[in-house]
Amino acid sequence: MIDRIISSSGAGSLGDEDSEIEVTLRPRDFASYIGQDRLKDNLKLAIAAAKKRGEPLDHILLYGPPGLGKTTMASVIANEMGAQIKITSGPAIERPGDLASLLTNLSDQDILFIDEIHRLHHTVEEVLYTAMEDFKLDIMIGKGPSARSLRLDLPHFTIIGATTRTGSIAAPLRDRFGMVYRLDFYTQEQIEAIIRRAAKILNVEIKPEAAKIIAQRARLTPRIANRLLKRVRDYADINGDGIIDSEISHRTLELLDIDVLGLDPVDRLLLLAIIDNYRGGPVGVETLAAITAEERATIEDMVEPYLLQIGLLERTPRGRKATVKAYTHLGKSKKTDNNQSSLI
Ligand SMILES: Nc1ncnc2c1ncn2[C@@H]1O[C@H](COP(=O)(O)OP(=O)(O)OP(=O)(O)O)[C@@H](O)[C@H]1O
Ligand SMILES: [Mg+2]
Repeated sequence: MIDRIISSSGAGSLGDEDSEIEVTLRPRDFASYIGQDRLKDNLKLAIAAAKKRGEPLDHILLYGPPGLGKTTMASVIANEMGAQIKITSGPAIERPGDLASLLTNLSDQDILFIDEIHRLHHTVEEVLYTAMEDFKLDIMIGKGPSARSLRLDLPHFTIIGATTRTGSIAAPLRDRFGMVYRLDFYTQEQIEAIIRRAAKILNVEIKPEAAKIIAQRARLTPRIANRLLKRVRDYADINGDGIIDSEISHRTLELLDIDVLGLDPVDRLLLLAIIDNYRGGPVGVETLAAITAEERATIEDMVEPYLLQIGLLERTPRGRKATVKAYTHLGKSKKTDNNQSSLI
C-alpha cells in the first residue's frame, strides 16, 4: 500500500512521527479543542450534571471518519471530569477474561476508552453488555459439569467507545450507550485555527496566507492538517529560513502531489476510473477497491467520506457516482447519453 498522508494513525509510516509530537499537539480541555461545538455543548452539560450529582458519566459512543478527534475528545472528557482514563481497543481485548481484568481494575468514575469498538470479539461484547448496564460481571469458573457462574460487582465506570463505522456496531451494544455522537468534518476556518495553534506549539512562524493554503488541502481533518504542517515545516527548514509562507507551502504540497481540494493520487485515480471506465458510475465499492488496490474498508472509512462531504462523489443504492463537480475538478467533459460531448 502506498504511504498516504491521509492514512490512519499507526497504519502508515507516519505513525512514529505522529506519536512524538502528538502528545504536545493534542488539546487537553474543551477550551483548546477547536470546533465540534454541538458535541462540546452536550458534553459540558452532561459533565456538569454528573459532577453535581457525584455520579459517573453515562457511557458515550463517538463515531466519525478517522482523524477528526475522537481519541482526543475521550481524553478531554476524562480531564474535564477529573477522572482517570484507561485506553484499550476492540481487537486488543481477546477474551472475556481480558475484559474482566480491565474492568475489575477500574475504580468508581474511571473511564475506559475502547477504540475501534466495532472490532470487539463477539464473546467479549456479550460480557460487556451486562457490565455496562448493571455494573456486574458474569464469569464462568471451572469447566464441564463442575463449572459454575459467578457474579461480581464492578465499580461504576464509564465506557467511551470510538468507531469509524457505526453500521458495524451491533444494536444491543449501541443501545447501551446513553450518549451517541457523530463527529463532523471541520470547517476550513476551524482547520486554519488548528494549524495556527499547532504552529505556535511547534514554535514555527507561519504566514496567514500559508495557513489558509494548508487548511484548504487538509481534507477538513485535524490529523491531516497537523501532518501537512509538519511536512511544510520540514521543507521550510531545509529549503528556506524556517518561516512558512505561501511559496513554501505551495511547493511542499506540489511535492506531496496534493491538489487544491486536498485530493491525493489515489483519490484522483478513483474518480478518474469512475469517469473514464464507467461513464461516471454507478460503480460498486468492491470494484473501486480493486481499481485502487486499497481495501474496501479503506475506501469506505478514509477515502469516501471526504469525497462525499465536498460533493465529488455521490452514493446511490447501485453504487458510487462521480458528480458534475468531480468532472469539473478533473477537467473532464461529461458524455451525454446520445453521445454528444458537452463540457460541464
Ligand atoms: N478539535 C481539535 N483541535 C485541535 N487539534 C485536534 C482536534 N481534534 C483532533 N486534533 C488533532 O488531530 C489529531 C488526530 O485526532 P485523534 O487521534 O483524536 O483522531 P481520531 O478521531 O481518534 O482518529 P482515528 O479514528 O484514526 O482513531 C490529534 O493528534 C490532535 O492533535
Ligand atoms: Mg483515535
